[in-house]
Amino acid sequence: MLKTKIAVFVSGGGTNLQALIDAQQNGSLSSGEIALVVASNPQAYALTRAAEHGIPSAVVVRREFPSQTAYEETLKEVLAEYGIEMIVLAGFMSILSENFTSAYPKRIINIHPSLIPSFCGKGYYGLKVHEAALAYGVKVTGATVHFVNEIPDGGEILLQKAVEVKEGDTPEALQRRVMEEAEWILLPKATEQVARDLQKGK
Ligand code: GRF
Repeated sequence: MLKTKIAVFVSGGGTNLQALIDAQQNGSLSSGEIALVVASNPQAYALTRAAEHGIPSAVVVRREFPSQTAYEETLKEVLAEYGIEMIVLAGFMSILSENFTSAYPKRIINIHPSLIPSFCGKGYYGLKVHEAALAYGVKVTGATVHFVNEIPDGGEILLQKAVEVKEGDTPEALQRRVMEEAEWILLPKATEQVARDLQKGK
């Protein structure tokens, strides 16, 4: 069976990328193959994870381009080079404009570490999301996988999973629990779903 060619966009530690790699190896991600990892900076440990599993990678740094358009044109060229059909944003921190997202309708998904529409949108990323959840005093948080459009965290929701906030949680402890109990489960599941649907649609 043909597999949907997937590019995973990363910026940091790559624990969500690792979850996708593990899913590919244990067969739960079977309708797609991770054909490329695109990093927004050369220091991303996610690049090490890709190299350890023989996955090609590209580093495309926004500030090295004169404009968002030039940056996105390079991204599109790299994706075309690898025949990429689907993009997974996994801890990716660079902006993608409508010019880019509209070129891949219902082919870009993102993992956000809260139950959208809570604690999402401009300025809500990484630890800040968990700091806001703790500051608000919510008893339950979680993670969301959604399609990506031009609105930050605004696309159609695919999957969500709730995670309990515990007494005395620090932002770091809560982030870790949300990753372990939600992100690393949801992202491979959603990736398989979309990759499979794209195969069916051919
Ligand atoms: C984490 O805050 C995660 O919740 C979000 O992106 C950040 C880095 O994740 N999705 P990763 O370890 O690089 O996948």
